[in-house]
Amino acid sequence: MTRPIEIAPSVLPVDLSMLGEAVAELEAAGVDRIQWDVMDGQFVPNLTFGPDVIASARRHTSLPFEAHLMVLTPDVMAAQYVQAGCERLIVHAEACTHLHRTLGNIRSLGAKAAVALNPATPAGALAHVLDLVDMVLVMTVNPGFGGQSYIATMEPKIRDVRDMIAAAGFSETIDIEVDGGISAGTVAGAAAAGANVFVAGSALFRDPLGLSHAVSEIRAHAEAARSAS
Ligand code: DX5
Repeated sequence: MTRPIEIAPSVLPVDLSMLGEAVAELEAAGVDRIQWDVMDGQFVPNLTFGPDVIASARRHTSLPFEAHLMVLTPDVMAAQYVQAGCERLIVHAEACTHLHRTLGNIRSLGAKAAVALNPATPAGALAHVLDLVDMVLVMTVNPGFGGQSYIATMEPKIRDVRDMIAAAGFSETIDIEVDGGISAGTVAGAAAAGANVFVAGSALFRDPLGLSHAVSEIRAHAEAARSAS
């Protein structure tokens, strides 16, 4: 069984004065989960959501929340993001001196654990932690901002991650997520390479036909590309 195709919107582009309504609209548009791009101004040159902001949106949707922790010290804040309502925490391999311990700590908090790889980080960074992760995030932009261009040269790395997961026997349990520049025009390459969860921000909110159309377009292109691969 292959992992299901899922659409995970980034809420970076939303009007934060209408956050509750925005997540409700995303649910109505047919997304599968909500991704919160948490940035500390240190690991990336941007500053975004604390746990209280996420907690304030929790009651407005029944969708699962995941926190993409683009922060230098994920161990310090992990518990607060779980308490805020995130069922999955994504940490960057590049920010974790003790990645194996950090992932184990996330699971001990009762959350699902995921590891993100920046564009320059090889898939080999996963070699000794696949038993501790529920998802791998292959960044298809350099993290920090929405609206950047998709880096297609990450597709061989997505294939490497897929093959590593398969060789370790985790194909039925570990998702492969991509994040950055994902749209109906770019999703096919990532899906054909093995990704099944697609983070999109600007592509969803710039569609003149609306959120539902944008979500269904990305999903349809991903499913078609996977079927053809
Ligand atoms: C980068 C962010 C963005 C965001 C998606 O740090 O993680 O990738 O989620 O933004 P778009 O879809 O506009 O590239």
